[in-house]
Amino acid sequence: MAKTKTAYFCQSCGYESPKWLGKCPSCNQWNTFVEEVLEKSVASVPDWKPASTSLQRATKPSHVKDIIFTEDHRLITSDNELNRVLGGGIVGGSLVLIGGEPGIGKSTLMLQLALTLPGLKVLYVSGEESDRQIKMRAERLSSVSENAANDCYILTETSTQNIFKQIEALEPDLVIIDSIQTLYSAHIESTPGSVSQVRECTAELLRFAKESSTPVFLIGHITKDGMIAGPKILEHMVDTVLQFEGDRHHVYRILRAIKNRFGSASELGIYEMQGDGLREVSNPSEILLSQRDESLSGITVSAMLEGMRPMLIETQALVSSSAYGTPQRSATGFDTKRMNMLLAVLEKRCGFRLSTHDVFLNIAGGLRVEDPAIDLSVIVSIISSHEDIAVSSKTCFAAEVGLSGEIRAVNRIEQRIAEADKLGFEQIYISKYNSKGLDTSRYRISIITVAKVEEVFSLLFG
Ligand code: TYD
Ligand code: MG
Repeated sequence: MAKTKTAYFCQSCGYESPKWLGKCPSCNQWNTFVEEVLEKSVASVPDWKPASTSLQRATKPSHVKDIIFTEDHRLITSDNELNRVLGGGIVGGSLVLIGGEPGIGKSTLMLQLALTLPGLKVLYVSGEESDRQIKMRAERLSSVSENAANDCYILTETSTQNIFKQIEALEPDLVIIDSIQTLYSAHIESTPGSVSQVRECTAELLRFAKESSTPVFLIGHITKDGMIAGPKILEHMVDTVLQFEGDRHHVYRILRAIKNRFGSASELGIYEMQGDGLREVSNPSEILLSQRDESLSGITVSAMLEGMRPMLIETQALVSSSAYGTPQRSATGFDTKRMNMLLAVLEKRCGFRLSTHDVFLNIAGGLRVEDPAIDLSVIVSIISSHEDIAVSSKTCFAAEVGLSGEIRAVNRIEQRIAEADKLGFEQIYISKYNSKGLDTSRYRISIITVAKVEEVFSLLFG
């Protein structure tokens, strides 16, 4: 018998080494190497078409002009948020990875998709739950009763060879794998969930997807530090990486495209987790603005963009004098480093003594915002709380703040203004540099252009 072949893999990034290493040279993590058995059994285990067929078929280079381009056939689902995030529906033969923390709702989202594709045969492969458990979940989802004609099959199986056998018999139009970490391939001897198993199973599914033009969705768990567990490698192999995120204690969930070979990677879908499944949220601004009549200090509204979508979101700040020597700085849904930068601008350029105060910042709805256009709203919230002067709930902001306290222009300003106008806001503060070519007569909202943070403060707080 041949000697067992093993290698060491970094469980965090998938780096392969013939020897054990204390520190991973690729991702610099300590103590992440685990030995995995690699020996491939030569015995012919049925697989998705032996690799030799595709290897022997030598390909020749073809001139780019001669390649016939046909628009990829896309499968339009009844879930508009998912369609948008995927760039307009599911592309045939694509491999899509959906990552997210345990319990966030990945299985629910995929089962809902499986149950609402009328006229298509869907195979839902689960290595995590029994078919009775899945049936119980399906009963909970309100979408089921409406689409009873749907052809959805459940398979509880973890061996890829068996899965491919069933796929060949069933010939589904869409395959969903829940989850990639539970699968194992008989070609590799290490345990399910290890780097080499996850990589091999994904490679087999990739080959199947490409050769049969069947789209495949993979569910992948995410580790604490946000990596698609552990192998980052998966992200390179698949066509599209979607991340399902949100605060488990909030009802809102966000589906974000991180990588997409068939569309924009900045798209975003919003769902609400209800007792009977996930509901699409088509008008996010309404849920992200808390219902309030009076104006409160420390709360402002910002017109931000997520992907291509404008939405209005509330930022809340609380500034209080610090009880201990070191003031606390805490931000939820906003980058803490960026908040510290903005606090330094307030301290240095505007003379506010904030170094003896605790500052807490919260973005409503459990969302994480990366759009710099929220900067102005953040600093106005902080000063509003510090001075205890409320800003009108009919005022919103859309501008970036620079290091010297200058108010900088942001992209797609018309879209932001139009959204604020539509939702009945009365004023919007934007950068002076954004006002060029802006047709203000089109909007009912009054547009206030500013160049420096001091100007904003004197206009708002006198
Ligand atoms: P699940 O899809 O199992 O999460 P994942 O596959 O990402 O681990 O979702 C689990 C949570 O969703 C669970 O805490 C219960 C909740 N849930 C609802 O609130 N409503 C529902 O209709 C369903 C099916 C689940
Ligand atoms: Mg699950």
